[in-house]
Amino acid sequence: MNNMKTVIAPVNIAVIKYWGKRDEELILPLNDSVSATLATSVMCAKTSVFTGPQLTSDEIWLNGKKESFTNKRLVNCLEGIKAIAAKEKSVDEEFLKWKVHVCSVNNFPTAAGLASSAAGYACLVTALAKLYNVKSDVSCVARLGSGSACRSVYGGFVQWHAGTEPTGKDSIATQIAEASHWPEMRALILVVGDSAKKTSSTKGMKKTAETSELLKHRIEYCVPQRTTSIIQAIKEKNFPKFAEITMKDSNQFHAVCLDSYPPFVYMTEVSHKIVEVIHKYNEVCGEVKVAYTFDAGPNACLYLLEEEVPKIISLIKYVFPSSSPDNFVTGLNYEQHELSKDFLNKVGLEPESVDLLKYIIYTKVGEGPAEVTDGSHLLDQNGLPL
Ligand code: PMV
Repeated sequence: MNNMKTVIAPVNIAVIKYWGKRDEELILPLNDSVSATLATSVMCAKTSVFTGPQLTSDEIWLNGKKESFTNKRLVNCLEGIKAIAAKEKSVDEEFLKWKVHVCSVNNFPTAAGLASSAAGYACLVTALAKLYNVKSDVSCVARLGSGSACRSVYGGFVQWHAGTEPTGKDSIATQIAEASHWPEMRALILVVGDSAKKTSSTKGMKKTAETSELLKHRIEYCVPQRTTSIIQAIKEKNFPKFAEITMKDSNQFHAVCLDSYPPFVYMTEVSHKIVEVIHKYNEVCGEVKVAYTFDAGPNACLYLLEEEVPKIISLIKYVFPSSSPDNFVTGLNYEQHELSKDFLNKVGLEPESVDLLKYIIYTKVGEGPAEVTDGSHLLDQNGLPL
């Protein structure tokens, strides 16, 4: 059907963090950032878009709930894609005038703070681009929804260029390497139970940009060097280098939050325990085998190579016991591994109290957004949710 398109899109987790805007309206960042896109087979957003002359208003349903289409970021994404379509003359003028209905779901908990807005906006923008037959780069439109969403428009390893143009036309994402370039790369998302209300990324970034001295040093000195080095590490598949930069950049991002005035924190005691576990593990291994990174919340994303997964899952299960061990790890399959007494002695960690970690999602680096062609749309032929 030409008036209905359905797309799935991935989440991405940054290894060089975006934190701070130079333009709030256009969502232009103060620094470049780098991320890996995670497999849609484990975590994805799915969005259907529908248009037709019978529609009387733009409407959106998110995770089963009707929401208002007045959200400026949403409107900017729709107008952004329509503007490109008009410029490319990719569809008739009449088709462009019709209203749209949007229905979107995530296959993972939105509330868990797992980069759901990045997947959601990348999905929306890609679905609209397909509906309006747009051919050019759409990362700059996804950026208008949520900055980090521009990186979910591509698979593999992705760089978001801060750009220098006031219009934002050079603030786009590009692919550094395909997922298949480093097929052993895996990610473990450690979902930490968290009831505390966190500072939104928009508010936090503003506060940091206005008040942190450390952010200036980060932007002028640290990020440019780290970006060059991590791109090289990805191209050379140098895991220890990739991992060290990833951890240092996560630590510095949380340090600039604490350097803001008033300060705010995202990591909890459990997050800090995870940091300790990973450093101890790497120390005992005699080499950096696992990296942690934390976004604007307490959950950890661990990057590691496939061969390390059974061991690290085993260690995490030991340190963070669960009352429902059978459902503790979801996602990809892995082999069970029993850690030796000798290894545990060397690591020197004791089990924490039960259920500090909710669960683990085991996933890998994957492809960018893709059209769903099996007809499993989320809207019916009248553009209403199924
Ligand atoms: O795109 P936003 O507004 O959700 O901000 C994302 C900020 C971080 O996740 C902390 C870092 C990043 O680069 O993804």
